[in-house]
Amino acid sequence: MAFTFIAIVGGVLFLFCFFSALLRWNEVRYVKKNKGLPPGTMGWPLFGETSEFLKQGPNFMKNKRARYGSFFKSHILGSPTIISMDEELNRYILMNESKGIVPGYPKSMVDILGNCNIAAVHGSTHKYLRGALLSIIGSTMVRDQLLTKIDHFMRSHLSNWDNQVLDIQRKTKEMTFLLSLKMVVSMESSRISDSIMPEYFKMVAGTISLPIDLPRTKYRGGCQARKALVSILREVMEERRKSQETHRDMLGVLMGNDDESRQKLSDEEIIDLLIAVMYSGYETVSATSMMTVKYLQDHPKALEELRGEHLAIRQRKKPDEPIDFNDLKSMRFTRAVIFETARLASIVNGVLRKTIQDLELNGYLIPKGWKIYVFIREINYDPCLYPEPLKFNPWRWLQDQSLESKNHFLVFGRGTRLCPGKDLGIAEISTFLHYLVTRYRWEAAGDDKLVKFPRVSAPNGLHIRVSSY
Ligand code: HEM
Repeated sequence: MAFTFIAIVGGVLFLFCFFSALLRWNEVRYVKKNKGLPPGTMGWPLFGETSEFLKQGPNFMKNKRARYGSFFKSHILGSPTIISMDEELNRYILMNESKGIVPGYPKSMVDILGNCNIAAVHGSTHKYLRGALLSIIGSTMVRDQLLTKIDHFMRSHLSNWDNQVLDIQRKTKEMTFLLSLKMVVSMESSRISDSIMPEYFKMVAGTISLPIDLPRTKYRGGCQARKALVSILREVMEERRKSQETHRDMLGVLMGNDDESRQKLSDEEIIDLLIAVMYSGYETVSATSMMTVKYLQDHPKALEELRGEHLAIRQRKKPDEPIDFNDLKSMRFTRAVIFETARLASIVNGVLRKTIQDLELNGYLIPKGWKIYVFIREINYDPCLYPEPLKFNPWRWLQDQSLESKNHFLVFGRGTRLCPGKDLGIAEISTFLHYLVTRYRWEAAGDDKLVKFPRVSAPNGLHIRVSSY
């Protein structure tokens, strides 16, 4: 009896010491040898606090902020990480790439999107690749070439929706993917897009998986999908070189058909830029479009005002006349709806950086190789910055026009990495809304669930019943 008791107490003591030692492991490994770190805890060896972060989602950040303030340390997603929710520090972090704070996206993303991908490079390489990128997706290109393509595409994508129950999540995903193919390589034939689509979705899934290179892992699938996509793009480039034809699309500009914007880029750089365009504009635009439909459906007053704005544009035009750049600029309420949706749905939770040298931030010492997570989500719901933050109120963007340029507004990032596709994304969503609200009314069909973390999605689709006006 006494022996059993001693054995149990001994076992409990052993487990206690074992788990205490495990919990101390990361503290010893990261904190003891790096003096001057911000407050926070590092969790378990290898996994750190990742499972709490993924399980509790935004509450994890909220609780930590309540305990340690707006700048603290943790160990998430495989790396020691500093989390920043401080307005001034966020601005400093995003504006100071030259001081050694460069993009820090996960290995699977960098491997699959390519070594010449814009998020994988910094310094002078980033500067010239970004210049090339702006020549194909910047606002001049939107005005001169892309808006006509977007308008043409939306008219046909939003035809025949009358009297149907649609999964608007699927529709907006297809819309963003097919539109990007049209803009990137003028691909409209469904035969080609049907063969690319499954590869593309595999590639996207691979970028947000663990980098485990084994058969049937998402990572392996993503790498294979990248190879397939690259070989399709190479084939198109070869064909174009042989035919010597001029093409008015993004590949055409990058290959130098367009003399004014000729770029001396290698084939690898061209391919990775095109993949970046298709990738970066995909989930952001499709999720924002889906959520505008949801919020407008739940807020009839906002829908009425938005519809008024678009009917006024239609009244100035012939029935089939496309919308032009001036129409786009006149869509002030639409722009406000897009910003409010991106804020309230927190389409982008945060952006990741890593340090490439030891540096001092806010009086703390951040070692080389640590990640910095600029967590935007909590700021989007700060009542001091956005009164009644959980309310869908697009009018707030019209009442205070400076809101868009405030330091805390990071929905499109800031500094040298400010989203180069911002105007294009707004043009796509605005044109989508134009044809949606002038042609159709809709209501919820079913009680679909929405998940907002770690990404905005409707796990079983978001169904709406559509009818014509
Ligand atoms: C609602 C739509 C969009 C949102 C909310 C959004 C958001 C963002 C954010 C927050 C960043 C900064 C990332 C960082 O600092 O690491 C970014 C960068 C970027 N975005 Fe967007 N984006 C949108 C649409 C688009 C579109 C349509 C495209 C392309 C067609 C695009 C292409 C890019 C690229 C290539 C970068 C990287 C820029 C660089 O590293 O220099 N985005 N975007």
